[in-house]
Amino acid sequence: MAETVAITDLQGGVRLITLNRPEKKNALTGAMYDAMRAALAEADASEAVGAVVFAGQPGMFSAGNDLADFMGHAENGFSASPALAFIRQLARTRTPMVAAVDGIAVGIGATLCLHCDLVYASPAARLRMPFVELGLVPEAASSYLLPLRVGRLRATELLLLSRPLDADEAQALGLVNAVLPADMLMEQAVAQGARLAALPRGALAASRALIRGDQARVEAVVEAEAEAFDRQLRSSESQERLAAFLSRSKPASSA
Ligand code: COA
Repeated sequence: MAETVAITDLQGGVRLITLNRPEKKNALTGAMYDAMRAALAEADASEAVGAVVFAGQPGMFSAGNDLADFMGHAENGFSASPALAFIRQLARTRTPMVAAVDGIAVGIGATLCLHCDLVYASPAARLRMPFVELGLVPEAASSYLLPLRVGRLRATELLLLSRPLDADEAQALGLVNAVLPADMLMEQAVAQGARLAALPRGALAASRALIRGDQARVEAVVEAEAEAFDRQLRSSESQERLAAFLSRSKPASSA
């Protein structure tokens, strides 16, 4: 079986993390979170790695957390999940991160981008954060980072009403640096990663920390969201909606 996350160290100090589960639109399983978490932790520990690039497959960045896995977490709790372990690592990663978003970026596929230092998108990019629609709450500090980026009213549309964003609007809102033809996306993301990796590491790390602002707050919000997420995941309203997606029927309450 092909690896669902491929880790490739490229020339120029760029570590490429490629999601590779196209048959499920790159929905993320526990094993995929574990692989990404380890790749980020290793990047921080390695002098050879100076930047990380996240990529998906043509037409799909990620459909977010595997919803069947979410249903499983209802028993074990979100707090013990590989998803939360990945999110914690993502929030504290010191290595600069770049995202190359082609096609759908749902849930964590979109909120992951809020932690990236640079984000490039193809014209087909579609960001969507349907947490509340699924009976859940925002994660990965998106309830803090998104209002900071786009303002509270717009964040409310995106996080409470799950309004999708296309590539141009995501760029206009400052969530994407540039929209590029799909066949130029990876080249640009990797080239920008290599530029970051070539900078003096001390100056880069200090400047990055200043640009990113209140790190302690980001980590505190990750934990606060996780508590609410855990509660919601055990609720009948989320279980009903997750089951509805998996069986592709409408939940009774929204029929
Ligand atoms: N978890 C588990 N499986 C998923 C998934 C997810 N998040 N997203 C897609 N899949 C699976 C589908 O069940 C389907 O599997 P099947 O072929 O065995 O039936 C396969 O991936 C292809 O998905 P499909 O829905 O047919 O593709 P599409 O192009 O019509 O739609 C999406 C793509 C991403 C818009 C749609 O799949 C979707 O809305 N997924 C859920 C996204 C989501 O809510 N994520 C969590 C956010 S918190």
